[in-house]
Amino acid sequence: MKEISLHIMDIVQNSVEAGATKVSIGVDVDSGRDLLTITVSDNGRGMDSEMTRRVTDPFVTSRTTRRVGLGLSLLKDTARQTGGRLEVLSAEGEGTRVIATLGLSHIDRPPLGDIASTLACLIAANKSIDIDYHHACDGREFSVRTEELRSRLSGVSLADPLVFCFVREYAEQGISQLCSTTPSLLV
Ligand SMILES: Nc1ncnc2c1ncn2[C@@H]1O[C@H](COP(=O)(O)OP(=O)(O)OP(=O)(O)O)[C@@H](O)[C@H]1O
Ligand SMILES: [Mg+2]
Repeated sequence: MKEISLHIMDIVQNSVEAGATKVSIGVDVDSGRDLLTITVSDNGRGMDSEMTRRVTDPFVTSRTTRRVGLGLSLLKDTARQTGGRLEVLSAEGEGTRVIATLGLSHIDRPPLGDIASTLACLIAANKSIDIDYHHACDGREFSVRTEELRSRLSGVSLADPLVFCFVREYAEQGISQLCSTTPSLLV
């Protein structure tokens, strides 16, 4: 995939399909350790240990529409190409955590992409799921929590187009301010 944001979209979709009611997304940029870490955790149905072990194999899927499942295997390839790795932790009935570690300055590391639009889409498309987004850049932090948004919106739906635009702009500004001293960390 050309952008990290597209991987995030795809991995969160797995959580939605697993019936999660809570999903946490983390993006951690650490220039000191030269690492970019993406984490997606959910409280969905989880997987047994055998499935968890095999899940990054493209021929392992619970899809009924085709026999390949590419989301996790593509993210694993991306992580490995940058000298990093993909870890999947899961427990049946409890949830799943996907942790991708990428080499931040590696030439094959895809750009972050349009994280703000991705987040706005995920929130609008899954209005009843609690989504927490956390972005850290060398210790400075920005977050969006739908639980908090819902309480401030007093009844207005998270799928409302005005909310979509607000979330996108808020995230765009918040993330760009995080790395204002080192803009290269934003891409
Ligand atoms: N968060 C999760 N919770 C429970 N099961 C999961 C989760 N993520 C992945 N899986 C299981 O792992 C399988 C493989 O996931 P993967 O994203 O690689 O492919 P896919 O979702 O099946 O297909 P694609 O991503 O190409 O649409 C899924 O079909 C599902 O059974
Ligand atoms: Mg998938």
